[in-house]
Amino acid sequence: MLELLLALREELENKLKVVDSLQQLEELRVGYLGKKGKLTDILKGMGKLSPEERPKMGKVANEIRDFLESNIDEKMALLKAAIKEQKIKSEYVDVTIPKKHIEIGHLHPLNETKRQLEELFLNMGFKVLDGPEIETVENNFDLLNTPDDHPSRDRSDTFYIDDSHILRSHTSPVQIRAMKKYGAPLKMVSAGRTFRNDEVDDTHSPMFHQIEGLVVDENISIANLKATIDTVLEALFGEKLNTRYRPHYFPFTEPSFEVDVTCTKCMGKGCDACNHTGWSMELLGCGMVHPNVLENCGIDSEKYTGFAFGMGIDRLVMVKHGIGNLRLLFDNDKRFLTQF
Ligand code: PHE
Repeated sequence: MLELLLALREELENKLKVVDSLQQLEELRVGYLGKKGKLTDILKGMGKLSPEERPKMGKVANEIRDFLESNIDEKMALLKAAIKEQKIKSEYVDVTIPKKHIEIGHLHPLNETKRQLEELFLNMGFKVLDGPEIETVENNFDLLNTPDDHPSRDRSDTFYIDDSHILRSHTSPVQIRAMKKYGAPLKMVSAGRTFRNDEVDDTHSPMFHQIEGLVVDENISIANLKATIDTVLEALFGEKLNTRYRPHYFPFTEPSFEVDVTCTKCMGKGCDACNHTGWSMELLGCGMVHPNVLENCGIDSEKYTGFAFGMGIDRLVMVKHGIGNLRLLFDNDKRFLTQF
């Protein structure tokens, strides 16, 4: 019996060496110390021993039981410690590691200027409105007093969807929508995309951006127009730039003007960029709203007058940041965009 007990002890010692989970350990405990375990089995033989041998063997058996129990407990503690350590390791956060560089974007210069303009006009009491990019020929041309033979109606200049719908060639149809909806008096602006069948060059693109403005009220004059536009351009460019109003023709305004500002490259001296004129490319068209346009929208042109303007946002951005090539605004090249 002594041999059996010693063999059992050795067997368990060897098994304990390779146990590596709490579950395996529990199986061992049941297998050796449990009610149907190996130790219990051996001890069943105690009855066959002589009365002298019995207490001796009982002592050895108890020692071995203690030995087995304490070894299993020890192993259990080791396994639990290892599991805990593993957990700590896997959840460990090194707060001293330098943080990853997270790039934070910013508004595209076009949107930045668009929002700046909307903000300026909002502060001057204008409504900021939206209009659709697909327009009716009626809103884009007819109601804006555009003669049937005006070249801008041509299919080589404007993108037609069908006979009565186009990609709007300017933001002026939003004037029509606004006057029909709100009547007079009215102060509104509307910015967005416009489309013309233009070849791409440094200052032209088939898709570009405008902000339209309209003021209709009693006693509105050219003085109001000039004061408003000069105020906005000054806010955008600073005081150093002058404006120039050149007579022009638009079907929907009379009289009409095109407006330039001082060339920012030479500050008016004359350089290659401004064709030695000292003035920037035309930035906006404007004028006093044609009475026919007011009447077309149900506004009494005897009582009300108005002014309107359409600014090229892309060109404003180019002048503001000294950008010589319009294409850069649409390329989405981060090397260019991160400069702003
Ligand atoms: N719609 C004109 C253009 O695109 C600009 C303009 C708007 C002129 C309003 C006068 C009044 O060129």
